[in-house]
Amino acid sequence: MEYRQLGKSGLRVSKLCIGTMVGFTFQNYEEAKKIIEVGIDNGINFIDTADCYGESEEVVGKILKETGKREKVVLATKFGWYMGDGPNDYGASIKHIIDACETSLKRLNTDYIDLYIVHVVDPNTPMEETLYALNKLVKDGKVRYIGTSKHPTYLILEGIFISEKYGWARFVSEQPPYNILDRSIENELIPMAIRYGIGITPFFPLGAGLLSGKYRKEGEIKEGRIAKKIMKIKEDEKIEKSLDVIEKLIPLAENKGITLAEFSLAWLMHMKGITSVIHGARKLEYLLSGLKACNVKITEEELKQVDEIVPPGTYVYPYYEESIWRPSRMFYSSSARRIEGTGAFIPDHKTGSDKKSGYPADRFK
Ligand SMILES: NC(=O)c1ccc[n+]([C@@H]2O[C@H](COP(=O)([O-])OP(=O)(O)OC[C@H]3O[C@@H](n4cnc5c(N)ncnc54)[C@H](OP(=O)(O)O)[C@@H]3O)[C@@H](O)[C@H]2O)c1
Repeated sequence: MEYRQLGKSGLRVSKLCIGTMVGFTFQNYEEAKKIIEVGIDNGINFIDTADCYGESEEVVGKILKETGKREKVVLATKFGWYMGDGPNDYGASIKHIIDACETSLKRLNTDYIDLYIVHVVDPNTPMEETLYALNKLVKDGKVRYIGTSKHPTYLILEGIFISEKYGWARFVSEQPPYNILDRSIENELIPMAIRYGIGITPFFPLGAGLLSGKYRKEGEIKEGRIAKKIMKIKEDEKIEKSLDVIEKLIPLAENKGITLAEFSLAWLMHMKGITSVIHGARKLEYLLSGLKACNVKITEEELKQVDEIVPPGTYVYPYYEESIWRPSRMFYSSSARRIEGTGAFIPDHKTGSDKKSGYPADRFK
């Protein structure tokens, strides 16, 4: 296993990370435990979860306790998404961050979080307040490193400059969606990350399953996490185009004797600025396939062939645009809700407009 420095921090993480958003439930506990055990035995030292991933934090915490592997792993979790209906049950205020951290520590059955991530932008809280709280958690030994997810480039930079100004803990990573079907982050986020020492740990490496190889232009769509959704929207232009691209990518994988999923994961690991790829291995067989991808060399010629199919910086399916925080989806959207008396807006999650606000887990339910 190859280990890479997370941004300009001293932390070393495996280039494959186990994502635990799907499949990490008590119902699926034995499989989840095997995934983590086999992953660690094969050199993976990075696990990603979040407070809002159902039972995931508790399941991961229990597995790490039972296996005695807690100290072996870099455990990342996130806060910020709605955890209740109260006005402080989400966001990046001091109150919510301190409370969310205490709750995550309990669920994870641990004394510290290695990487604590701001899951979504909270436009109503000043970055100073967020970083003050995160720095306090670092000083108190509850958190070791801090990062962001789905943050636009300028907000990550704002965070870096505020941390420098006050001598506080600094963001070391960003977690955006990135895969062969969406290379948008190559335009701005990746150059910024390389320049400022931010590690990029992409999620949706397989486009939530679209790049698994089982969705094809022709033929029946079989079982799968996004199968029903794809079936419904196969006539959608973005899906239609994605399936066209997938037909062109499959021969590249077949020529190497690997699956499209393995090719897609390996391709990401070869891309500039990428520290670790967060793989949604909800089954042991997927993890084994992810581990296989760690040993796949993508040649210059193959990189060029992918560039011809999906040119650098372009996208076929707009995962990034749909996930990243954009003021247009908040301040200018008629479905955004004004918080009484404050002038601030939040997306109205009860009407389902959170889909637009960028919470991707909902998209492919
Ligand atoms: N920061 C954020 O906002 C955010 C958002 C989403 C996810 N994440 C993180 O990123 C992780 C990965 O996300 P994800 O699971 O949505 O993305 P993904 O890895 O792109 O997709 C996972 C899906 O791809 C299929 N798959 C995975 N490995 C495969 C293999 N080797 N061969 C064939 N098919 C394979 C499976 O589909 P089927 O289930 O259909 O078989 C699986 O559910 C999550 O667990 C979470 O930790 C973060």
